[in-house]
Amino acid sequence: MERLQKVIAASGICSRRKAEELILAGRVSVNGKIVNNLGTKVSIEDVVLVDNKEINIERKEYYLLNKPRGYISSVSDEANRKVITDLIDTKSRIYPIGRLDYDTTGLIILTNDGKLANILMHPRNKVEKTYLAKIEKCLTMEELFKLKKGIYIDGVICKPSRVKIKKHDEEKDIDLVEVTIHEGRNHIIKRLFKEINHDVIKLKRTKYAFLELDNLNSGEYRYLSKEEVDKLYSYERK
Ligand code: URA
Repeated sequence: MERLQKVIAASGICSRRKAEELILAGRVSVNGKIVNNLGTKVSIEDVVLVDNKEINIERKEYYLLNKPRGYISSVSDEANRKVITDLIDTKSRIYPIGRLDYDTTGLIILTNDGKLANILMHPRNKVEKTYLAKIEKCLTMEELFKLKKGIYIDGVICKPSRVKIKKHDEEKDIDLVEVTIHEGRNHIIKRLFKEINHDVIKLKRTKYAFLELDNLNSGEYRYLSKEEVDKLYSYERK
């Protein structure tokens, strides 16, 4: 059950303040009865009309997906490529929080909760994301040091909070590097390595905030628990 004014605002027709005005003005009905009390609570089973028009009460949904390669992090694509929302069995209009490149795999959250999406994407809230990057040519100590110190991209520093070489294959001249950052610029990991002259051959996001992929296979997803959603909400800095 949610407060009526919150549900009206969440349907997208107006702000919560405006919804309160509409309720007090007697322009809102619940299950056929005019309601003009701001303490009223409703659920998705109730029929809410504003000026005799039904509003869409959507249940909030939260999914953690292990994104496969070859999917666009979007709800539709002009070039008709596969999009990640195709992988989730729901009728709700969910969308990804942030994006992973077409060829990047790993953890991504999808939801229809715009408030949570804004909290998690706002740079002020510094949500950490961890990536595993397979890179061409082994890193030198100097390059590793540069990466740890932070690299300027388009004039703005990107300073990883952690960098760790997980595997060092001198024979193939390939490194597997774990990098944790708290920003969300497009292609940021590939651009970080490009700045020190390394191409990323494979990229996987293994962690988002406190969430991990656990045993989800590529293309599989699970629902987030109420506790997990509450914990994600707590990332909001007041
Ligand atoms: N950084 C990238 O370069 N690509 C992604 O998909 C995510 C982060």
